[in-house]
Amino acid sequence: MSFIPSPDQALEILKKYNRDEFHIHHAKTVSAVLGSFAGEYDPENTAFWKSVGMLHDIDFELYPEQHCVKAVEILHNEDIDEEMIHAIVSHGYGICSNVEPEKYMEKVLFAVDELTGLIGAAALMRPTGISDMEAKSVMKKFKDKKFAAGCSREVISKGAEMLGIELKELMEKTIVAMRENPVE
Ligand SMILES: [Fe+2]
Repeated sequence: MSFIPSPDQALEILKKYNRDEFHIHHAKTVSAVLGSFAGEYDPENTAFWKSVGMLHDIDFELYPEQHCVKAVEILHNEDIDEEMIHAIVSHGYGICSNVEPEKYMEKVLFAVDELTGLIGAAALMRPTGISDMEAKSVMKKFKDKKFAAGCSREVISKGAEMLGIELKELMEKTIVAMRENPVE
């Protein structure tokens, strides 16, 4: 019998495979942002979205070279629901997996994963952080390829395209989601 972990249970599972605070913080951030988007698009499944966000990079700390491949193995061992595994693996579409994001939730995960990194890095550069940050300042950082170079602009653009929204709107929504759901 597979199971659907609550966000708290997902965090406990994540911690079995991740020690690095940076990874745990990233997982919590993506989880919080997905929860915020779910509140707008799929409120009755908010917990599911949040758990997907929490677990999406579960294998990355231990197996960076086999990202999304080892995840399937780990998540099967943890008896995680197949729909949840599909969502998690689809965030590496075209990078480390050939599972395409189909559901809206999966597309949001794909779109915000790298973007939260870019926004977080941009917020650190500002004295007032994310509190009064606007999409246009993230857009400037987006265009500066040397800034937070690890955050793939291509993936972020592809994500916005999948969602059928303008990049700037995606940034606005993600900034608001991060501002309203700060991770300690
Ligand atoms: Fe991620």
